[in-house]
Amino acid sequence: MTPLKIRASTIARLAVAFAVVLAASPAITVRAAGDAAAGRALALKNCVKCHGSDGKGDGPEVAARHISPPPGDWTDKEDMSEHPDVFLRNIIEQGGAALDKSPQMPAFGKKLTPAQVNDLIAYIRTFSK
Ligand code: HEC
Repeated sequence: MTPLKIRASTIARLAVAFAVVLAASPAITVRAAGDAAAGRALALKNCVKCHGSDGKGDGPEVAARHISPPPGDWTDKEDMSEHPDVFLRNIIEQGGAALDKSPQMPAFGKKLTPAQVNDLIAYIRTFSK
């Protein structure tokens, strides 16, 4: 065996071990619960013009731009209980069109970090508590 071969196989074994450690580590996925107060600040800047400061989906842009269907009512407990967090995350990040919903719901995946989306989800949930 040449030294080169030994090194290559050692590297391969290390790579496999590293991949196993990565896959098993919960720290890699975003699990932190969102901060509703931070989410509110983000929503005031990016969302209330359509979703309304009361979360009812009646922000000024809805009438001004004739947005139809309008955004949903975040205070409707029954409706909101049918939307798991993953749906809220997907529509916020990918926008309505990607999910066969209204294309007037913009995609924020490039503008907001995953942690900021968590904050927004926590804020959205405060309306149906
Ligand atoms: C230009 C208007 C507009 C803006 C700005 C906007 N939305 Fe929406 N959003 C919509 C519309 C319209 C829908 C309804 C999509 C449908 O049901 O077809 C929607 C749907 C949603 C939904 C699915 C539940 C619901 O309300 O129907 C979530 C969650 C959501 N938006 C979050 C956000 C967040 C968070 C922001 C800000 C980061 C935001 N939206 C900004 C228009 C907007």
